[in-house]
Amino acid sequence: MRRTPADLVRAEPGPAHTIEFDGRPVPALPGQTIAAALWADGVLAWRTTRVGGKPRGAFCGIGACYDCLATVDGQPNQRTCLLPAEPGTTVTTQEGHGRADLAV
Ligand code: FES
Repeated sequence: MRRTPADLVRAEPGPAHTIEFDGRPVPALPGQTIAAALWADGVLAWRTTRVGGKPRGAFCGIGACYDCLATVDGQPNQRTCLLPAEPGTTVTTQEGHGRADLAV
């Protein structure tokens, strides 16, 4: 029998809803962060570094490292490990500094 973290604490989350990641639906549970929803769906990277374009996703999970930055509902540089995955949230992979409007 496969046990999940929710099973271990006997959590009974509400019904799943959907967020959007790079144009495709991703399931999310009430109270789940965006980073947790992406991880649970098998997505491990949603940003590239400014130098070298290396893939990044969540690292610390507590808002300290800024590795999990993404563009959320059109706002770049959002820490996905701190933001709830609200129904209809749109997340886009962030490349570099996430500000295409700034010429660097
Ligand atoms: S994973 Fe470190 S700030 Fe989000």
